[in-house]
Amino acid sequence: MGAQSTPQGVVAGSIPLFAGHPAHELLPISSVRPLVDAIWSQPDVLRLFNYGNEQGNRQLIDFLAARLQRSENLPICRENLMIIGGSTWGVDMITHHLAAPGDTIMVDAPSYRDALHIFRDARLDVQSIAINAGGVIVDDMDRRLRDLASRQRSPKFYYVVPNFQNPTGITLGTERRQAIVDLSKKYGFVIVEDDVYRDIRFVDDLPPSFYALSRGEKVLRLGTFSKTLAPGLRIGWLIGHADAVKRFVSSGMLRMGGGANPFTAAIVADFCSSGRWEKHVAWLRNQYRLRRDCALAALDAAMPRSAHWTRPEGGYFIWLRLPENLTVDELEAQAKAHNVYFASGKGFFVHPEDGAHHVRLSFSYVPLEDLESGIATLGQLIKGARRSRRH
Ligand SMILES: Cc1ncc(COP(=O)(O)O)c(C=O)c1O
Repeated sequence: MGAQSTPQGVVAGSIPLFAGHPAHELLPISSVRPLVDAIWSQPDVLRLFNYGNEQGNRQLIDFLAARLQRSENLPICRENLMIIGGSTWGVDMITHHLAAPGDTIMVDAPSYRDALHIFRDARLDVQSIAINAGGVIVDDMDRRLRDLASRQRSPKFYYVVPNFQNPTGITLGTERRQAIVDLSKKYGFVIVEDDVYRDIRFVDDLPPSFYALSRGEKVLRLGTFSKTLAPGLRIGWLIGHADAVKRFVSSGMLRMGGGANPFTAAIVADFCSSGRWEKHVAWLRNQYRLRRDCALAALDAAMPRSAHWTRPEGGYFIWLRLPENLTVDELEAQAKAHNVYFASGKGFFVHPEDGAHHVRLSFSYVPLEDLESGIATLGQLIKGARRSRRH
């Protein structure tokens, strides 16, 4: 693969187990191409090369509203939705609108690294709450909220990836979601639900979303086409209370720049309305399930008993805990020498040392044979480190 065709950060010829991108062969370019040609030959195509309407592509908004009503029975109408340039845009926009430098917010420990970067850029006080196999530990959140309240502080929002979390692959259980909705009412914070992996699920059902549990009160939910179509199109959506959406839509940025990416939004709208997206999502789920199964089988075969990992039911990631006597820095240096790259656990914590024994493995990008051999190499290195310590 040439340097031109490798995505962000991937060293040509390496095994990039860090890459949280869709594999090139999973991008539906052959079915998108005819849609682009058709759009190009429309008489009013020039409209798409101009500024768009601030709320975003209407056809896409109506499609998403109908899908959310149908699949989750959500009371959603046009006023609750807007098109954004990917979920990242949404996290940045929400941060900007809801919090000012020095304000407190809450995140999981660990949490999505690039969101932590956005919060750091905004100079927020980021409180991280530990998670376990069922997601964030609600008692810890409750204790932290009481402690903050005793110091006259209350978080502006709680940022969470509820389904197949990045980086752990863990899904937050229903009871905990309900308890967090109750805490949000008690303490007055907004829940920012970054639900980018919802459609990459290998199980039939998911717990109800925060948005569903709260009937849309004090919840902003983000979705994206990056995981189920193509990240390069930069199209996602935000769902929220009509007043919140109105506020975002009339923000300076959208007034000045028009709605998100009118040309690519038109392509995505046609892809969805023609039924191609649902078919593609169904196909993708099988493809990613195969990759997840392959990665788990490789871990079962390669790792010593002192290593532990999650078994995600969707998404892109597996979270590996190294034996206590091996740090992620040591493993990273050795793996690099073998041309295997992974995401160090340290990047996903507000306090990086909390991730000193963790690795995020992504099964979304590399071919199956590289998944197997990359994980086998890591297994050998981990076992080798244990042996050399013993001698
Ligand atoms: C939790 C989470 N949010 C957002 C994104 C980025 O989404 P988008 O491409 O829509 O900005 C990712 C991608 O890795 C992610 O894992």
